[in-house]
Amino acid sequence: MQLQHVVPWGRNLKEYREMGLFSEADKEKKILGCGDGPASVNSELTQTGVVIISIDPIYEFTKEQIQKRVQETSHVVAKQLKDNKDNFVWKNIKDVESLIKLRLDAMDGFLIDYEDGKRSGRYQHQELPRLSFKDKEFDLAWSSHFLFLYSEYFDAEFHLNAIKEMLRVANEVRIFPLLDLNNARSIHLDAVLEYVDKKGYTYEIVKSDYEFQRGANEVLKIWS
Ligand SMILES: C[S@@+](CC[C@H](N)C(=O)[O-])C[C@H]1O[C@@H](n2cnc3c(N)ncnc32)[C@H](O)[C@@H]1O
Repeated sequence: MQLQHVVPWGRNLKEYREMGLFSEADKEKKILGCGDGPASVNSELTQTGVVIISIDPIYEFTKEQIQKRVQETSHVVAKQLKDNKDNFVWKNIKDVESLIKLRLDAMDGFLIDYEDGKRSGRYQHQELPRLSFKDKEFDLAWSSHFLFLYSEYFDAEFHLNAIKEMLRVANEVRIFPLLDLNNARSIHLDAVLEYVDKKGYTYEIVKSDYEFQRGANEVLKIWS
């Protein structure tokens, strides 16, 4: 992975809760966050005693490298958001400035915790579709704003392999959103649901309290 191609963008625990990825009922669970990137969710949950490991290819880089990239890219993202304002729901988040502040605060929370978390193995440089963990090492594995969202860049085979791998290492998988970057239902969703059905796994698509990208308000939950 080359850092100059990455736009670091991270959400906080409140947002993970609203997406339906985490609730109080999950606090005793061992959690694997796939593609958590510069989100503050790991730091915030660890502080409350929840056991969570996050994996992401950007964890290959140092704190200074990620911090520099956040600073370089935040104004680019602000411009993109301003140019595409109608693609988003400005309800809980009032305007572009509030959004940028929310994201930078979340990424600060991540950066403050990053070196400590890396030393203790809470942030691991690994990437889907191959993980180093043992079968069913986790109760719950999630993906926020990675699987399905980048459907244009990651094909159906990647999605199937990634989700199979998450189901290998965890009892339950949760994925948000189910839309791609153009706000369309992911073209890989049907292939994934067909696979899940064929394997006899149970799944549910649940409405979330979170909707920022217009129409992205559902979470897929799969139990193996
Ligand atoms: C838009 S960010 C989402 C960050 C965080 N999950 C959130 O919702 O705030 C997408 C993340 O997916 C990560 N990613 C890219 N390829 C990946 C892979 N093969 N396996 C796991 N994560 C990957 C990126 O590095 C990036 O941190």
